[in-house]
Amino acid sequence: MMGAIVALMTTSARTQVGIVGAGPAGLLLSHLLALRGIDSIVVENRSRAYCEARQRAGLLEAGSVELLRQVGLGVRMDAEGLEHGGIYLQFAGERHHLDFRDLTGGRWVTLWPQTEVVKDLIRARVAAGAQIEFEVSDTEVADQHTEAPVLRYTDAAGTRHEVTCDAIAGCDGFHGICRDSMPPGLLRVAEREYPYAWLGILATVPPSTDELIYSRHEDGFALHTMRTPQVSRLYLQVPADDEIERWSDDRIWSELQRRLGVPGWELKTGPITEKAVSPMRSFVATPMQWGRLFLAGDAAHIVPPTGAKGLNLAIADVTALATALVSLLRDHDPSAAAGYTETCLRRVWRATHFSWWMTTMLHIDPHQDQFGTELQLSQLRYVIASRAAATTLAENYTGYYPLRW
Ligand code: FAD
Ligand code: DHB
Repeated sequence: MMGAIVALMTTSARTQVGIVGAGPAGLLLSHLLALRGIDSIVVENRSRAYCEARQRAGLLEAGSVELLRQVGLGVRMDAEGLEHGGIYLQFAGERHHLDFRDLTGGRWVTLWPQTEVVKDLIRARVAAGAQIEFEVSDTEVADQHTEAPVLRYTDAAGTRHEVTCDAIAGCDGFHGICRDSMPPGLLRVAEREYPYAWLGILATVPPSTDELIYSRHEDGFALHTMRTPQVSRLYLQVPADDEIERWSDDRIWSELQRRLGVPGWELKTGPITEKAVSPMRSFVATPMQWGRLFLAGDAAHIVPPTGAKGLNLAIADVTALATALVSLLRDHDPSAAAGYTETCLRRVWRATHFSWWMTTMLHIDPHQDQFGTELQLSQLRYVIASRAAATTLAENYTGYYPLRW
């Protein structure tokens, strides 16, 4: 009797690709597939407003910028994004400039916040009549190893849905359900936890710098970045188990001033509109595919934010996945889908190494000894003195592997 009631309340549907998660990975995948005539549904357990406001990444590699332009998502980014041709690297009380354009033959990055990428993507998908279901619950995937995997969810009104697909994309972030739906024992995980976290703030005050400042200070790392010409974003290294309640606005500003300060430079302060502590972790799961289930973005891998790579990796994964799914579903050629993990992991491991390197070079490990300190300082002196070393940083920061669509 119960079974009959549940069956009555469940609606059935069919689509080509079921996408779990309306972060940048899931939304961009849906957009790219639509450009090649493939239907999809996106299910997301948060509200549209929450997805559009969630403060996260800020920087796009040149390849990510070019891809967004190529697929019709560049108009606002080109008008309002801030192009940056370098960064400041600060240590031992001195600030040094690295000129990416000079070091890499003209490459740059664009400060275009993830909130804006997500807003543009949602607007474009909604305008195209795409199916995006916000505020779903009890998302499940089943039959991933068959040619007809199933996506189940309950919509905001309480109706249960079952969607039969040709493939499912797990774009549901680090805490999603798709990675765990792979068979036990299949996934191999390589990971590192770091003994510190980032306290990030958003403040209504014009940035005190033209380009980002990455500062290694004995009291811990600090980063000055920005959102708009009127809004600054800043980060502080804090203990891994620290709580935001322990950080008054005055304490945050004085710590930032100490860690970012150099003679003759002033940090402008203003009202803090948001503050949060985020843990730092490196994590790579492989394979990124099982049968017709594919993982993309943070669902498969996480990097510490110091290298500004997470959003760019999510964009690169779904670019490869869209290409593979178009070959599989439209041209009946399974070779790109079979090679999906290998295609992604080459870039993922380059970004994983770069993010680990930037993180360990710039943060103070609470158990650090004199040997560790001297190695960090020697490496930083080498990066600012040697063109070869500076180029290594610049070509990784701006994006080493090209992106093809
Ligand atoms: P997410 O953005 O996490 O999206 C996953 C979505 O899936 C979410 O909307 C979630 O609600 C949804 N979901 C989860 N479970 C379910 C479920 N069961 N059913 C339905 N939906 C579900 N990266 C950079 O490149 N540059 C930076 O400068 C940078 N800075 C960062 C700073 C901070 C403080 C942080 C925290 C991250 C930063 N990152 C940066 C990383 C970047 O934000 C992430 O890598 C990026 O969000 C990954 O996108 P995604 O779509 O894979 O995952
Ligand atoms: C931002 C975040 C980062 O982790 C980084 O390395 C550079 C910029 C940002 O939020 O703007």
